[in-house]
Amino acid sequence: MSGLASMFSPRSIAVIGASRNPRKIGYELVSNILAGGYEGKLYPVNPEGAEVMGLKSYVSVKAIPGEVDLAVIAVPAVHVPEVLEECGQKGVRAALVISSGFREVGNLELEKRIAEIAKKYGIRMLGPNIFGLYYAPSKMNATFGLSRVFPGKIAFITQSGALGIAMMGWTNLYRIGVSAVVSMGNKADVEEADMLDYFSEDQHTKAVLMYIEGAKDGRRLLDSMSRTSLRKPVIVIKSGKTDAGASAASSHTGSLAGSDRVYDAAFKQSGALRASDLAQAFDWAKLMTMQPPPANDDCLIITNGGGVGVMAADACEESGIRIRPLPEDLQAGFKKLMPVFGNSKNPVDLTGQAYEESYAKSVDLALRDQRVGSVIVLYCQTAITDPVSIAKSIAETCESQGCEKTLVTSFVGGAQCNEAMQKLDELGIPSYPIPERAVSAVAAFYRWQRYKAKKGI
Ligand code: ACO
Repeated sequence: MSGLASMFSPRSIAVIGASRNPRKIGYELVSNILAGGYEGKLYPVNPEGAEVMGLKSYVSVKAIPGEVDLAVIAVPAVHVPEVLEECGQKGVRAALVISSGFREVGNLELEKRIAEIAKKYGIRMLGPNIFGLYYAPSKMNATFGLSRVFPGKIAFITQSGALGIAMMGWTNLYRIGVSAVVSMGNKADVEEADMLDYFSEDQHTKAVLMYIEGAKDGRRLLDSMSRTSLRKPVIVIKSGKTDAGASAASSHTGSLAGSDRVYDAAFKQSGALRASDLAQAFDWAKLMTMQPPPANDDCLIITNGGGVGVMAADACEESGIRIRPLPEDLQAGFKKLMPVFGNSKNPVDLTGQAYEESYAKSVDLALRDQRVGSVIVLYCQTAITDPVSIAKSIAETCESQGCEKTLVTSFVGGAQCNEAMQKLDELGIPSYPIPERAVSAVAAFYRWQRYKAKKGI
């Protein structure tokens, strides 16, 4: 197994610095690995060799009888070199160095030393100064973040540890599934570019989302982004845009934020989709991991409310999505599904009297028509319709159709709309509480399609 394969899919893990004290990080790491359902061998390592959480523990990694693919190291920084040296002698292939106390506090020499040891033994090392690594396909939560993570298809790479841990909470709260959460830390060995290359090939990942403050090797990162963007969407949040942000980034991770305009142009050139904030980044990733890309440039909006239809049409035009009046024959089809006072152009306004059946049949018509490339379905809550039933009817139609083009929804209203959107998300149809967020996600999908088309893909 290669170093990164051992890091993501280890057959065995040693937690060095495992502790029986629940207030220690070494305890939480073992506890999370167990709680996550990891199915390989787990070896706690502790100088006393006492049991940790019912598992036999070992006085050193070298005392472990079997092979060790991955070492998770959580001992004070000064002990990391000797521990890593032992890992090398044991034949460990990969290491997550959780410990802080290196470059981020000016301890450059110590960081250089551990990088050299890792290199000498061919160990791929993530960190130091990280909260760990979560990888859903291996059921491996080797982090001291939250114990429960919602599994899915988004790989999240983050330069900020605290943000990564917080996002693990979001995955459950908003049911946004992740294939991986990677804490980059000081990047003494493994950098974002290595991770991108890995996820580019990873069949369990459909989109990559990155939070970065600055790059160690900008050229390498952009090359990797360009390669990955040809295969799957790469969504980037790059902070440190302003002088105040750049100075904060410099004291947070020592990153030189660089000129924001230069980054912006470089991201565009490499096909990376730059999101302005976390909510937007996850909105985009949600769509891109749940739905196929648009089949062509024409987008169709279906609504039961004129106002939200107009807002969505505005947002579409502003973000480069084409909204054209529908051809006569298609309009005739929609007219049969609405009262006489409806509107069959585009947006198709089914009116406030649109029930399950008219939504289902309209979505069916839109999904079947080759001239439609993507569909945005809007619903405004009314007293005479049930959002949850409408959501189900949309999902059933999509399911029976095979849904080969982008379909997104936005349900605007109260608690029942929330319930309806949750149902849709669960059934693989992304849903957003306001039309503009749905449009923004579709627009990002189109931008990615255009990038690939420009590259001949
Ligand atoms: N081999 C095996 N075990 C060892 C060794 C060794 N060489 N040396 C120490 N240990 C054991 C200790 O005995 C202890 O176990 P015990 O509780 O049974 O006695 C355990 O390892 C931990 O060692 P401590 O000295 O108690 O250290 P502590 O747990 O307080 O801290 C840690 C260690 C967590 C690595 C700390 O030094 C550190 O770096 N903390 C910061 C981590 C961090 O924040 N990372 C960045 C995250 S990103 C973000 O921003 C959230």
